[in-house]
Amino acid sequence: MSNLKGILLAGGSGSRLFPLTAAFSKHLLPVYDKPLIHYPLATLMLAGVRDILVITTPSDRALISGLLGDGGSLGINLTYAEQQRPSGIAEALLIGRDFLAGDPVVLALGDNIFFGHGLPELLARAKAQREGATIFAYWVADPKRFGVVELAGDHKVIGIEEKPLNPRSNYAVTGLYFFDGRASDLAAELQPSARGELEITDLVRRYLEMGQLQAQRLGRGFAWMDAGTPDALLDSANYVATIERRQGLKIACVEEIAWRMGWIDEDALMALADTSGSGNYGDYLRGIVTTA
Ligand code: TTP
Repeated sequence: MSNLKGILLAGGSGSRLFPLTAAFSKHLLPVYDKPLIHYPLATLMLAGVRDILVITTPSDRALISGLLGDGGSLGINLTYAEQQRPSGIAEALLIGRDFLAGDPVVLALGDNIFFGHGLPELLARAKAQREGATIFAYWVADPKRFGVVELAGDHKVIGIEEKPLNPRSNYAVTGLYFFDGRASDLAAELQPSARGELEITDLVRRYLEMGQLQAQRLGRGFAWMDAGTPDALLDSANYVATIERRQGLKIACVEEIAWRMGWIDEDALMALADTSGSGNYGDYLRGIVTTA
C-alpha cells in the first residue's frame, strides 16, 4: 500500500469512565507513565505511518493538539479534525475523506493498546495487502461486548457481528483496521444503526461481502486492551507498569519509536530528552542510545 495514511480516532463520549471524563477526554488519562493516546499513536508509528489525522471532540481538540503538536519533533505529520458528536467509528472515514484523498488508511481507535512480540511484522503483512481490508482478531473471555468475527483458519473471515447476544466465536475485532482507498466512498453508503451510529462493523462487512476482507489473528502471546472502563484502565496501567519495571524498557515510547524507525537522529532524540524532565521518562530517553 503506497501512501498509507493513519487516522487516530480520539472523540467519543467516554461515558463509561465518568466522572474521570467529566472535564476532558479519556485519551489524556494516564496509563501508568504516559497518556492513553500515546499507545495507539505508537501502534500507527510501528505500522510505518507518518501522515496521521487525529480526530477529537470539539472541546478536546486544544488539549490533544497541545499534547501531541504537529508531530515534527517525532518526524511525523499530525493534523487535526473534529467529530461534532459521537456518531460512530465509521464516521472517521468521512471526516477524513479529504485528508485521505483516496489513499489507503490505518484506522486506530484512541483507547486501544497493543503489545506483543511480532507486532511490527503483523502490521507489515497487513500493509503489504494491496486491496481490501484487514482486521485483527483477539480471543476474549466475554465476546458479547465487542464486534465478533468468525474465522476459518488464521486469515479467512466467515462472518462479523456487532455485540452479538449469541457470539459465534470468542474472537473480538480489535480497534485497528487497514482499509484500501475505497474506505471513504464505502463509508458514505452506510446507514446509521439502531443505536444511531455509523458502525465500523458494517463497513468491514462490506469488504467481507466483496470478498476482500482478511483477518490477522493476534495469538495469546499478545496483549490487547481497551482502556474504556475504570477496570480496563487500571488493568492496562498495571500491565504496562509490570512489564516496564521488569524490563526497564518502555511500551509505546513514541520518541524511542521515532528514533528506531530512523525518522529522527540521535541529536533530535536528545533534544526531546531535554524537554522531558528529570524524572524516569527523561532518564529513559537519555539512556536509549547507550543501551541500544
Ligand atoms: P467507545 O469506547 O465505543 O465509545 P466512547 O469512547 O464514547 O466511550 P463510552 O462507550 O464509554 O461512552 O469508543 C472507542 C474509541 O473510539 C474511543 O477511543 C473513542 C472513539 N470514538 C470516537 O472517536 N467517535 C465515536 O463516535 C465513537 C463511537 C468512538
